Amino acid sequence: MSDNWNWKVALITGGAGGLGRYLAEYLVKMGKVGPFFVSYPQLRANNGAHDLAFEPTQKVIIAGRTESNLKQTASEVPGLEYIVVDVGKVDNLAEFVKTATTRFPDIDCVISKLPYAANPNKLLTLSSTSAGIQKPISFPTTPVTQSLLSADEEIDTNIRGTVHLITHFLPHLLSKPSSAVFTVSSGLAFIPIHPVPVYCATKAFIHSYTQTLRLQLKNTSVRVVEIAPPLVESDLHRDHSNPDNNKKTNNSFALSAEEFIRDVDRDMNAGLDVVAPGFTRGRVDKEDEIFKADFDKFNGRQH
Ligand SMILES: NC(=O)c1ccc[n+]([C@@H]2O[C@H](COP(=O)([O-])OP(=O)(O)OC[C@H]3O[C@@H](n4cnc5c(N)ncnc54)[C@H](OP(=O)(O)O)[C@@H]3O)[C@@H](O)[C@H]2O)c1
Repeated sequence: MSDNWNWKVALITGGAGGLGRYLAEYLVKMGKVGPFFVSYPQLRANNGAHDLAFEPTQKVIIAGRTESNLKQTASEVPGLEYIVVDVGKVDNLAEFVKTATTRFPDIDCVISKLPYAANPNKLLTLSSTSAGIQKPISFPTTPVTQSLLSADEEIDTNIRGTVHLITHFLPHLLSKPSSAVFTVSSGLAFIPIHPVPVYCATKAFIHSYTQTLRLQLKNTSVRVVEIAPPLVESDLHRDHSNPDNNKKTNNSFALSAEEFIRDVDRDMNAGLDVVAPGFTRGRVDKEDEIFKADFDKFNGRQH
């Protein structure tokens, strides 16, 4: 953990399970997250007296669809608080953001390092839109209504959920001295695979949207970071014929939670705009190598 990490309240959608939970546990571990935090040197300095225990200064809030899963995770990871939200139901997101920022006005969560190192007292806000789903769809062999149901669900959750949530959160984030928003794309944003065609397209959307959002917010207090995970062990493949095909026992490419967080920590500490664990680092670097000069050139023009 770096001393430059400085944050107050982090909100992670999709935080009850999978990557969102790994990120929540990571933040709890690196933050001074409740119920109470007492450091051993302070206890010694006070001859073991317990009145030095102080309120936690940092909070991690997880949000997700299923209250029982949120409750279970919050009971297993001390210090987590939770709010229920279905990010696929975009008409409810304005109200959700209002509730969340009223209950936790400091949502001015987290993460990032070097660009803010000059002022370690600045608080950063993390709003990570990790909630996401994946549906295998075979267009030629699946009934039309079934294909469209799956496609719409993926588009609503992965695309509309992310865009609506961030757009509703932006005024709040912009009102903070410094803040950050994290999107979660995928290695499949760069190279799609045919069994999950709409999923891959939603992640390409997130990658593109994050690049231009970052440019639009360049001169503001909001930092935009993309996490582009490779295959990581989680429950994401629950609708596959073999839901465990993203587990190490079935796929040697899959990262464990620990390997994923190890690389997240590496890239966050390096202050990168795109956090790319495992093999996605190569894809992100290759895209930069081929397109970065043109990206900068086209975006440097007046439009
Ligand atoms: N695992 C991978 O290999 C991988 C690779 C690249 C990218 N990703 C991305 O990483 C993110 C997390 O995926 P994961 O692998 O951790 O999947 P996961 O194990 O299925 O966890 C997804 C979490 O998102 C929540 N969620 C799903 N739909 C939601 C909705 N409409 N509203 C609110 N919460 C919702 C789920 O809540 P419930 O408790 O209600 O189910 C669950 O807690 C996704 O965006 C995914 O596309 C994953």
